[in-house]
Amino acid sequence: MRGLQGKCAIVTGAAKGIGKGIARRLAAEGTHVLVADILAEEAEATAAAIRSEFGVTAVAYTIDLTKNEEIEAMMAFAHDLFGSIDILVCNAGVTIHNWATDYPVETIDFVLNIDLRAHYLCARTAARYMKEQPSKGNVVCISSVNSTIYHSKRSLYNISKAGINGMVGTLGVEWARFGIRVNAVAPGYVGTDLVNDLVAEGKLDLTNNMQVIPMKRLIEVEEIANTVAFLASDEASGITAQTIFVDGGWSKDALPEEKDIL
Ligand SMILES: NC(=O)c1ccc[n+]([C@@H]2O[C@H](COP(=O)([O-])OP(=O)(O)OC[C@H]3O[C@@H](n4cnc5c(N)ncnc54)[C@H](O)[C@@H]3O)[C@@H](O)[C@H]2O)c1
Repeated sequence: MRGLQGKCAIVTGAAKGIGKGIARRLAAEGTHVLVADILAEEAEATAAAIRSEFGVTAVAYTIDLTKNEEIEAMMAFAHDLFGSIDILVCNAGVTIHNWATDYPVETIDFVLNIDLRAHYLCARTAARYMKEQPSKGNVVCISSVNSTIYHSKRSLYNISKAGINGMVGTLGVEWARFGIRVNAVAPGYVGTDLVNDLVAEGKLDLTNNMQVIPMKRLIEVEEIANTVAFLASDEASGITAQTIFVDGGWSKDALPEEKDIL
């Protein structure tokens, strides 16, 4: 894709799952990557694999995204390392299920901090560098199908993801004047640890979901990564402030297939 070769990207939550797939996809285009995650060993393993497979600079960076001082330090580190921050992918996320009436306040702060506040802090800190550099910059956040369709006992996650859609809208509008594009990708369910652990714990029954997913399948990590790479590339030069759903049509479907032809 045009405009990715030789660029420098930070991908948060890149040790495993969707973030790892995004870091690999960008590296395949010749983009250098900072593999940022709270899991130090897994991040180092991912960075090492990317270096040997794609021959780009790939550096692991250990960070707790709930801490603003660590976010500011990471951006300074990446800027020193690469000389610019061309692409920021805010991907790290968590989910903890409970009734809204029963979440401890500490859990509310924890989930909202990672799933929404960290995206905002990372984006605005990166933008301070991006708007001053000739190459300007590009931010892509990972939202979810659950930003617009909701299931019970997931209110913190759903609120955060709805907030991300609003965030890329408002920052996309505000930062177009600085040459910075801001978009989100909203995945349907992907077979990562996040989903597999919920299934194993009996907190998610995918057969229910499949009834209202037109494509009747999970989304592949590569399908998310392809869309992120597209949005970060010059191929998407006219797109900003948007959320692109990669969800097999799920967010548009209201009824199980056999019930919508009566
Ligand atoms: N898997 C899905 O079906 C699905 C669907 C829609 C959206 N998403 C979103 O995609 C993103 C990635 O999800 P995934 O499925 O790959 O999950 P995952 O659990 O496999 O990976 C999440 C990564 O984020 C990291 N992380 C968590 N807290 C962190 C913190 N405080 N600081 C730094 N890193 C931290 C984890 O260590 C992990 O490597 C999330 O934002 C998630 O909400 C996932």
